[in-house]
Amino acid sequence: TEQTPSKPKRVLLAKPRGYCAGVDRAVVTVEKALETYGPPVYVRKEIVHNRHVVETLQERGAIFVDETDEVPEGALVVFSAHGVAPVVHEQAEQRGLRTIDATCPLVTKVHMEAKRFAREDYDILLIGHEGHEEVEGTAGEAPEHIQLVDTAEDVDKVEVRDPSKVIWLSQTTLSVDETMVRVNQLRDRFPEMQDPPSDDICYATQNRQVAVKAMAPECDLVLVVGSTNSSNSKRLVEVALQAGARASHLIDYAREIDESWLSGVDTVGVTSGASVPDILVMEVLAYLAERGWGEVEEITTANEKIAFALPRELRKDLVR
Ligand code: F3S
Repeated sequence: TEQTPSKPKRVLLAKPRGYCAGVDRAVVTVEKALETYGPPVYVRKEIVHNRHVVETLQERGAIFVDETDEVPEGALVVFSAHGVAPVVHEQAEQRGLRTIDATCPLVTKVHMEAKRFAREDYDILLIGHEGHEEVEGTAGEAPEHIQLVDTAEDVDKVEVRDPSKVIWLSQTTLSVDETMVRVNQLRDRFPEMQDPPSDDICYATQNRQVAVKAMAPECDLVLVVGSTNSSNSKRLVEVALQAGARASHLIDYAREIDESWLSGVDTVGVTSGASVPDILVMEVLAYLAERGWGEVEEITTANEKIAFALPRELRKDLVR
């Protein structure tokens, strides 16, 4: 009797994946601050939501704190890529801290939109995840004008003063599709609601989701490298499952892969969130290669060329 040959084991590797321009800038900011001013450099919150990055910077002399009141007077503090509310800048100033703001320029863009529409007295509906640092920062720009919309239940709770003066904005790292579901629910209630002047969900979030969608239908398993507090990484798992992957898991390191996930699997998809250094992805590929998944095909849906200049406060002190 003839046996059906088993299907070849292979890996599909999403591109783009990993570091976005905002994360790269934030991490380099802390590295350059350490080189230029020497340790300790304080960082308010995780500079980016990745365990490996945070631990590596800690080893080099960065001290991560939750709030600026934990920073000694006069010391240097870096604000994370997710952005901060104006009140945080004020507190830092009152304590005489030197600050470097590593907020991603695409987050700053949403802050500017929030300020502008608050000034024009709109009710602003901010779609985002409750408790995420980015929405706390953005909402802090205009607490009187902004209501956070996370779940479908939140849509029902929204109250506006004038239904003809409503606009929605969003966190930069949401699922593109789910956000549109929320927008449509809001629009059912407020048909005159305006759209943001430009996309708030950033290019990197969108591109990584498009790449996962392209490969997921062919995958028995999609491994997403990223930390559990990383919004955009978690979205990649959801997008993979929605797009047809049979299973998908979020892992910080190759060592977190459970062998049982691989049983009966032919095609493994691999990608990573915007805060993930590619070395962690290479370790996952090495793990898979050792177990027979050595053939790797990159699935490219976009080429990213965007880069951001370092924060001005730091640039002025850098020796050329
Ligand atoms: Fe900025 Fe988007 Fe990255 S908002 S930090 S470019 S995920």
